[in-house]
Amino acid sequence: MAGQGWYYAGQLVTITRMHAGVPTLNGQTLGSENSTASSAAGRRHELGQFLTPTPIANFMASLFETHWRRVDLLDAGAGAGALSAAFVRRQCISRHKPRRISITAYELDATLIGTLQETLNGCRRECERAGIQFSATVLNEDFINAAVPMVRSDLFGSHQPRFNAAIVNPPYRKIRSDSATRLLLRSADIETGNLYTGFMALIMKLLANDGEMVAITPRSFCNGPYFKPFRMDFLAAMSLRRLHVFESRSAAFRKDNILQENIIIQAVKSPSKPERVIISSSSGETNGVITERKAAYHEVVSPNDPEWFVHLASEDGGARVRAMMHRHSTSLAELGLSVSTGRVVDFRAGNFSAVNRAMIRRR
Ligand SMILES: C[S@@+](CC[C@H](N)C(=O)[O-])C[C@H]1O[C@@H](n2cnc3c(N)ncnc32)[C@H](O)[C@@H]1O
Repeated sequence: MAGQGWYYAGQLVTITRMHAGVPTLNGQTLGSENSTASSAAGRRHELGQFLTPTPIANFMASLFETHWRRVDLLDAGAGAGALSAAFVRRQCISRHKPRRISITAYELDATLIGTLQETLNGCRRECERAGIQFSATVLNEDFINAAVPMVRSDLFGSHQPRFNAAIVNPPYRKIRSDSATRLLLRSADIETGNLYTGFMALIMKLLANDGEMVAITPRSFCNGPYFKPFRMDFLAAMSLRRLHVFESRSAAFRKDNILQENIIIQAVKSPSKPERVIISSSSGETNGVITERKAAYHEVVSPNDPEWFVHLASEDGGARVRAMMHRHSTSLAELGLSVSTGRVVDFRAGNFSAVNRAMIRRR
């Protein structure tokens, strides 16, 4: 079926490409890198298939600020369509309804395509009732494979569609440094070691100027050396408007047992930055209280910071600690100290393990 055009006559939801059977990423069958992926759970894990709970999807949809007459929405890694559905629901009750919504949804897993199509047909009915014209295209293909040629600026670049909105919960998975995906992303000037930042970078490039992105992702891109090239490109092109953090690690995807710290980001493609960014936080419980503060943009991303860290002080107390820390001008490295976060494992502390073993022997 791969490459064959599918069209459901009389319906505005069009499935233009279908994969047969097991999904592949750049020609490599998912699961072949890791034998545990033979189980359904392993396969879900490989595909980063952690679907967004409805209250979070609704919250994300409420964050879009711009009122367009015509919305061209990108939903990359659409799953069963929870994010597109929330977006459409929100637009249908808006005081400034668009005239037309057009959705392009990429989903690699063929087993989700039927449900995705049903969701989008539901969106079409909802739009009809609200007097909004609606169309949707479902692409059962690898978003990275499809998007890289569109954003490449060389001779091999192809026609680039212009989206003015994107809503996304991208798959999260490390990309090996020697993998085809890494090389493909590099060919589009994207240097990153994780699928989720690869998705965000491509989406950013596919957005028109002033286009808006709302994404729920791990928080890891906000600091650390691995994500620095991504951060530099993303923060130069995008203007952060709102960042929402969850108080507990497991809050956003509790059902899936994910202990990943997540963030929701709302950003506009524009080089000019606002004076302030809203930083909000919640427990992640349905109907939980949301607290928010407005932080100066330079407090969140300092123009003098060569690392381009994103600082997420969601409370005034956190902001005060940040200001205090900022007064210390000596780095830990200059003090001869290094810090490791996460579990201490003995093979990473070889010297100390040797000392420990010697001490135990002496006793
Ligand atoms: C974290 S889930 C989010 C699904 C949905 N957007 C939601 O929020 O419920 C990511 C989705 O991306 C899909 N996916 C993974 N790799 C992909 C790729 N390379 N191209 C397109 N979709 C992909 C997965 O199958 C999964 O459905």
